[in-house]
Amino acid sequence: MRKPSVGNSPRSSRLTETAQQHWGKFLAPGDWAVDATAGTGRDTVALARMVGPTGHVFALDVQDPALQQTGQALAAAGLLSRVTLFRGDHSHLPESLPCEARGRLGMVCFNLGYLPGGDHSITTTAASTLAGLRQSLDLIRPGGVLSVVAYRGHPGAEAEAGIVEAFFTRLPNPWRQLLRIETGMADRPGPVLYLAEKMPGPAA
Ligand SMILES: C[S@@+](CC[C@H](N)C(=O)[O-])C[C@H]1O[C@@H](n2cnc3c(N)ncnc32)[C@H](O)[C@@H]1O
Repeated sequence: MRKPSVGNSPRSSRLTETAQQHWGKFLAPGDWAVDATAGTGRDTVALARMVGPTGHVFALDVQDPALQQTGQALAAAGLLSRVTLFRGDHSHLPESLPCEARGRLGMVCFNLGYLPGGDHSITTTAASTLAGLRQSLDLIRPGGVLSVVAYRGHPGAEAEAGIVEAFFTRLPNPWRQLLRIETGMADRPGPVLYLAEKMPGPAA
């Protein structure tokens, strides 16, 4: 029997690992990045490694169990000093970040859905995700990337995934979609990975 496409399935783990491999091509030591859905902290740890000791990661989540898990994962990896971890809603990203973050971020990533092993009723929503995605466009620097893993298997996920699909289909200039990886089968849709780049302008 095929596994259901939930946030902590082997299939979604593989897709988040694929996402992290792509991030490494765009993030450099010294970059600033945002993990807009900290969850278990796996993505935050990956980002903290990529930005190095001179970079910084801002990681947020709406629930304390996620912040605790992320804090523990960072502490175990010895990366706490590279990360500002806070309780927050990604639909209010600009107010949650220092002013200098605007136009400076090398990446904002969203891994949607619910906390694996946590309360499945606390999930990202179409409205908050769309707000966070729109705000990210201005926060990211030229050459930086926006990454989203969208799920389609839990209540509300299909509508949210539809909003994300439409968002990446109609990106404004100077944004360009780099990647779309869809997993699953017609009768059991799996998560989808999207990656878009803010194209650097012509050299002055
Ligand atoms: C699939 S998990 C994230 C997985 C995580 N990136 C990791 O590496 O384990 C989704 C997370 O989004 C969080 N979340 C839901 N709505 C949110 C919001 N509006 N702002 C920030 N985080 C939110 C949930 O609490 C949950 O922990």
